Amino acid sequence: MEIDLVKDIKSDVKVEFLTAKQLESHKNKKLLKLTGFQAKQDTICFLHEKGLLVCGIEDDSSDNFRSVCSLAMQALNSSSYKSVAFNVTDSNIQAIVEGIVLGGYEYTQYQSKPTKRKLKNVYLTCKDIKSMQKSFEEAIIIADATCFTRDIVNMIPEDLNPPTFADLAKKLAKENGLECEILGEKELKKEKMDSMLAVGRASRHDSKLIHLTYKPKNAKKVVSLIGKGLTYDSGGLSLKPATSMVTMKMDKAGGCAVLGMIKAASELKLDVEIHAFIGAVENMLGGDAYKPDDVLVTRSGTTVEVRNTDAEGRLVLCDVLDYAQDKVKADYMFDFATLTGACMVALGQYTTGVMGHSSKLKHDFSKAANNSGELIGTLPFNRHLKTLLKSGIADISNVSSKPYGGAITAGLFLDKFIKDENKKKWLHFDIAGSAYTETPWDCNVYGGTGAGVRFMSSFLKTIK
Ligand code: BES
Ligand code: ZN
Ligand code: ZN
Repeated sequence: MEIDLVKDIKSDVKVEFLTAKQLESHKNKKLLKLTGFQAKQDTICFLHEKGLLVCGIEDDSSDNFRSVCSLAMQALNSSSYKSVAFNVTDSNIQAIVEGIVLGGYEYTQYQSKPTKRKLKNVYLTCKDIKSMQKSFEEAIIIADATCFTRDIVNMIPEDLNPPTFADLAKKLAKENGLECEILGEKELKKEKMDSMLAVGRASRHDSKLIHLTYKPKNAKKVVSLIGKGLTYDSGGLSLKPATSMVTMKMDKAGGCAVLGMIKAASELKLDVEIHAFIGAVENMLGGDAYKPDDVLVTRSGTTVEVRNTDAEGRLVLCDVLDYAQDKVKADYMFDFATLTGACMVALGQYTTGVMGHSSKLKHDFSKAANNSGELIGTLPFNRHLKTLLKSGIADISNVSSKPYGGAITAGLFLDKFIKDENKKKWLHFDIAGSAYTETPWDCNVYGGTGAGVRFMSSFLKTIK
């Protein structure tokens, strides 16, 4: 499917957006009402003989355009139309592109006979192409990077394991002119990353640390992005129940997101130096598995009592965060992880949890997220929750002693590995709920959502 910005064009179908009020004065009001169409938000109506697809919107907010365009695309994908035209304006072009590209996304890699779609051309029509070109191109880059992230999240653990994850990163680096460094188990051992290594020990795949760099000439700031890349999380010896294990191929979504982010930033040619670090590991069980009761010595020297091998993401991230801080003196440091089921309990499935010490940074992100169509919500740290990570044998326990506030205690575990000088530069994003879905919502279809790519791109664009 191709998407183009054009002035005027003939197409099989034209999309029209209508509010309930506008419906009252529409020239096809009678016909539309006959079908039962009331122009309610997220309802659509084909008037085939008129070559029209009418989309109901509550008002002209971006969220409304995005979600109804997603529905329109799903209907168009299963129709026989070859071309469609959407009229766009300055204020809705980004949302419409997201609706079209993300709402129309399909992942067919594992189908033996994927349905061939007839729809070939999507046209965005506008009065003045010149003034819209930049926003169009940016929206496409960000939506494509989101699809790229979805594609890798959706890959099965047999195909996407730590070594193939590293290969994929190398390929992206080559295509986008990024630097790429991969650390294998020998190098990780040398770096004393024994916590990360312990998590991957029972896997038949070697753990990998992936480091990609985008270095533009006139970089104004340096940003480190750190991703949890658990290519499968069985829970380890603290085995997950059968029903919770299904979907755990998505535990690499943080790593996939940072790849999408650096891809977007390099294609947007942002004046920001970006480092993407991914801890790519598979959490399995077997005779060689790390155990509850083990004490791990992390790269920073801090010792961790393992009380649950399913709280493995933090054991990988603590070493990667420590490595990233030594490697790069960054102005900002953000980590992305499908870290806790508790984050979903706290905020719901649709919202990414944000934690950190800088109110300003959290505020800036709320604004950036608002403009991006993604939902984020802050979860506050406090010193009482911190005490729940006390261990009787080591410096810290990998799980909290109480069952409440699990997303925050996981964030506080990571905080232990953030150096004092970086405390205010760091934010942790828990994407456990937002990264994957089995029921479509907004412009998200079944599978990986690409959570993080849009709000991070939106934030990076604001860096001066
Ligand atoms: N990868 C999971 C978190 C998760 C759960 C992500 C559901 C997406 C959907 C993580 O490694 C995990 O298992 N966390 C445990 C922590 C607990 C043992 C303290 C959890 O959330 O139950
Ligand atoms: Zn786990
Ligand atoms: Zn996990």
